[in-house]
Amino acid sequence: MEHKKENWGSRIGLILAMAGSAVGIGNFLRFPIQAIQNGGGTFIIPYIISFVLLGLPLVMVEWSTGKFGGLHGHHSSPMIMQRLNHHKIWRYMGSLGLFSSIVICSYYCYIESWILSYTIHSVIGTFQGMTEAETSAFFNAYLDLNTSTFGFPYDTFVCFIFCLVLNVLILSNGIANGIERVAKFCMPMLLVFGLFLVYKAYTIKAGEDGAICDGMTGIDFLWTPNFDSLANPKVWLAAAGQVFFTLSLGMGAIHTYASYLKREEDIALSSMTAAFTNEFTEIIIGSTIIIPIAIGYYGIDRVVELSQNGGFGLGFRTMPYLFGQWGPVLSALAGLAFFGLLFFAAITSSLSISQPFVAFLSESYEWSQKRTSLFVGVLLFIIGLPAILFFNNGVFDEYDFWAGTVALFFFGMMEVIVFSWVMGVEKGWKLINHQADIRIPTFFKFVLKYITPTMLITIFLAALFKPKNDDWSLLSFKGWPLDDSAVVAELMHQGMDPNNPNIAYINGARIFMVLILALICGLIWHASRTREQRILKQRKEAQQ
Ligand code: ALA
Repeated sequence: MEHKKENWGSRIGLILAMAGSAVGIGNFLRFPIQAIQNGGGTFIIPYIISFVLLGLPLVMVEWSTGKFGGLHGHHSSPMIMQRLNHHKIWRYMGSLGLFSSIVICSYYCYIESWILSYTIHSVIGTFQGMTEAETSAFFNAYLDLNTSTFGFPYDTFVCFIFCLVLNVLILSNGIANGIERVAKFCMPMLLVFGLFLVYKAYTIKAGEDGAICDGMTGIDFLWTPNFDSLANPKVWLAAAGQVFFTLSLGMGAIHTYASYLKREEDIALSSMTAAFTNEFTEIIIGSTIIIPIAIGYYGIDRVVELSQNGGFGLGFRTMPYLFGQWGPVLSALAGLAFFGLLFFAAITSSLSISQPFVAFLSESYEWSQKRTSLFVGVLLFIIGLPAILFFNNGVFDEYDFWAGTVALFFFGMMEVIVFSWVMGVEKGWKLINHQADIRIPTFFKFVLKYITPTMLITIFLAALFKPKNDDWSLLSFKGWPLDDSAVVAELMHQGMDPNNPNIAYINGARIFMVLILALICGLIWHASRTREQRILKQRKEAQQ
């Protein structure tokens, strides 16, 4: 089979696709919840510092190493990592990039299907006249596979499969004709919808349409900085985790997208433009929709309380009811704008998170883009199935915790260590600045070598061994009881009733994820062998 080398069609297309990868559900649903849960103004300073000292350096690392790998014919994390240092261990470390991307994508496409359904329901007026309790109950009914919200059986499944098929169709058209074209359409649309909602949120007035506070109350809640949080590792963990998720770091997505760059193309300016576009969308648009609208109608205390059990579902449980306060026409328009915006944001991200596996299979086995896309679609269905069937038993959250938080953070940390210490920051700095259209301040070379790895290791250790009640005083010599949310404690189900039936499902999900990782390592081994044999054969043929 003829294996064609793919490239981006244009620089603007590349930047929009990279920004589209970053701008996603994380910007509009995850960021507001994280900010509320962590105290609004107390969250924003660690968030901005994490963006500058962790996010931007890792963006540079993934863009530069991705491009470097691509110039040597590698398009997925395992082979890109091995290009940086020839020891085989890095190839297997790269399996984490494939693992997090495929697992995250499986549940990401599921959320995408909720969004699609909610867009349709908003337009056809399903939420009109619903009370707050009814809107929340509707979400439970939607997730319940035995209940149909569209009037045909298994609608939740049908919508999930529809989203998978859509992703497969776009992916199978390749980089320039598929992903790039979709990003060029979705990103401007998302901006138009977002600005409409920001205007509506900004102009909420206490006493009008049942609002109890002005829209500005929510904006002030986030933007009145509180420096106390600088000493609270819990807020740092949340902020760093959000920066990783929102910039699509540690999931192999940027590696793969950057690997389609040409030798003469800049990465310094393009990477910074994509990263700052994401931040604009997150902290200007993303923070000015859910937060001011929810606080406007519920008040700060109630919103903080709701966010404690919120997760991704909070926007689905509350927003349709809140839009309903604006009357039938405006509520339908707001629902279309909000869920439409989420859909555009989600699809450009899910494409980027599925492409690493597509790229891995095409480069290893020389399969066509169509064949690999279909294969990955089937894989996403199989991996996503337990999260759908056993959603209420904690499988979905388990995926999000291990693949969407722990694995991507750990992989990001290893990437920086390889870049700055194994390959060497001097060589890395040259890669970042090769053909650069702007000068990245040399300060970042120091940050990449010392500050980012130190911060990542500290945050990772803190997450593993977080002490009970956030009591970090090491000098007490009274032992180190772990908090229930420490990674090690989570692993041992600390804080859960041992008779809780969900433990069996959670363990099942973990075993399944370990199997997926083992399978990926097996595939990497097989693919490397196949590739080596192919190269040997080609050399022999050339000699004859
Ligand atoms: N970066 C993507 C998001 O924010 C994954 O949703």
